[in-house]
Amino acid sequence: MKRTTLLALKTLVWLACLWPLGLLLWGAINNKLGADPTATITFATGLATLRLLTISLAITPVRRLSPRLGWLIKFRRLLGLFAFFYATLHLFTYIALYAGFDVNAMAADIAKRRYITAGVAAWLLLLPLAATSTNWAIRKLGGKRWNRLHRLVYVAAVCAVIHYWWQVKPGVLTPLTMTIVLGILLLARPVQAWNQRRKVHLV
Ligand code: HEM
Repeated sequence: MKRTTLLALKTLVWLACLWPLGLLLWGAINNKLGADPTATITFATGLATLRLLTISLAITPVRRLSPRLGWLIKFRRLLGLFAFFYATLHLFTYIALYAGFDVNAMAADIAKRRYITAGVAAWLLLLPLAATSTNWAIRKLGGKRWNRLHRLVYVAAVCAVIHYWWQVKPGVLTPLTMTIVLGILLLARPVQAWNQRRKVHLV
């Protein structure tokens, strides 16, 4: 891929990733965050996290569909880091606007509300992945260990979806699409590995 095309694509991805934040800032400045700004911010940051996490998880299986899609890898780290960025904004919205920085209230919430427990688990799982996303960390850990550690992203995504289901009212099916997409991505990995093994066997 040409350098200029890559640069243009990178600019587009940055703009798309910053879009939810831009919308929130625009809404905050113009007093247009709706009747419940806390809920609006929580919804926007939570959804951005889940979407970016899912897209970053889709990169590897989509790349494997054709050798011409190899360049997609250049965007995986960026998307993963933006997912962590929105997850952290989402967490801070909870700490500041829901819990009012009350450590006891937060501890009680983590212990008693299972959707908070699952959300915290997802964020804690993403933390070491974001911390080891630099080239230096990849060199230091070695490719194999780094890859093994970064498989935690699947567990984080499952915790995030469970968190989503547990916080919607009974009968509400909004997390269903995300659950199906994530299910397909989780299945794609073993299916593609099996297919690869079968091809090697046939050669
Ligand atoms: C990777 C991590 C996470 C993801 C992907 C995520 C995603 C989401 C999503 C999609 C929603 C639904 C928004 C809606 O429909 O209104 C939500 C709601 C919520 N999340 Fe998270 N979340 C994560 C972590 C956390 C953490 C760490 C906390 C707090 C400790 C948290 C606290 C909340 C709260 C308080 C709500 C709103 C519940 C309500 O409306 O009563 N989340 N989250």
